[in-house]
Amino acid sequence: MQLYLDTANLDEIREAASWGVLSGVTTNPTLIAREKGVDFKATISEIATLVDGPISAETISLDAEGMLREGLEYAAWHPNVIIKVPSTTEGLKAVYQLARKGIRTNVTLCFNATQALLAARAGAFVISPFVGRVDDTGVDGMQLIREIAAIYKADPEIKTRILSASIRHPRHIIESALAGADIATCPFKVLQLAMRHPLTDRGIEQFLADWKARA
Ligand code: E4P
Repeated sequence: MQLYLDTANLDEIREAASWGVLSGVTTNPTLIAREKGVDFKATISEIATLVDGPISAETISLDAEGMLREGLEYAAWHPNVIIKVPSTTEGLKAVYQLARKGIRTNVTLCFNATQALLAARAGAFVISPFVGRVDDTGVDGMQLIREIAAIYKADPEIKTRILSASIRHPRHIIESALAGADIATCPFKVLQLAMRHPLTDRGIEQFLADWKARA
């Protein structure tokens, strides 16, 4: 399973990219707005210089025509830009039209397996089920990944990848991989936590202490 970073913060992307673990980046309007005063195009273009993989840029239009217009604009910024559209019927129309032009899409805000099936049929490059937000409703978000994985696996025509989104903690990363996700997009903090273990820290301390005290 590949790992993407879910952020528009360039310092976070630069740092995680230096670990050699990043295969892509996802952004959304909230994440872009969090980086006060930055220019959308400049930010996406800068990310493209830091990570050699798909970078999701999200449309804000509610109608297919607007999504298509935005998608064509964003796709011209860099060949790695993927157009994010919502899981709506207007989103499907945009996915279909963009796919016909060879432009890859990320169908976001997916909360059930039927949305994922229709997105795949329309030609989505990736589907983004929001596991954390499903968990928030008291339903097992990982079950959604399992259902989509089973549906996609059963249909050899479907090439759409499953991008596990709304990841809240390292356990979500492990469970996404086990449930059949192709990609997990993680906040920087979660990626940091994923490499932490108190026994690793204690082991390092002990080794250093023993080394210093050697005869
Ligand atoms: C995915 O592409 C989204 O940007 C993201 O994972 C949403 O996560 P949140 O539920 O933490 O906002």
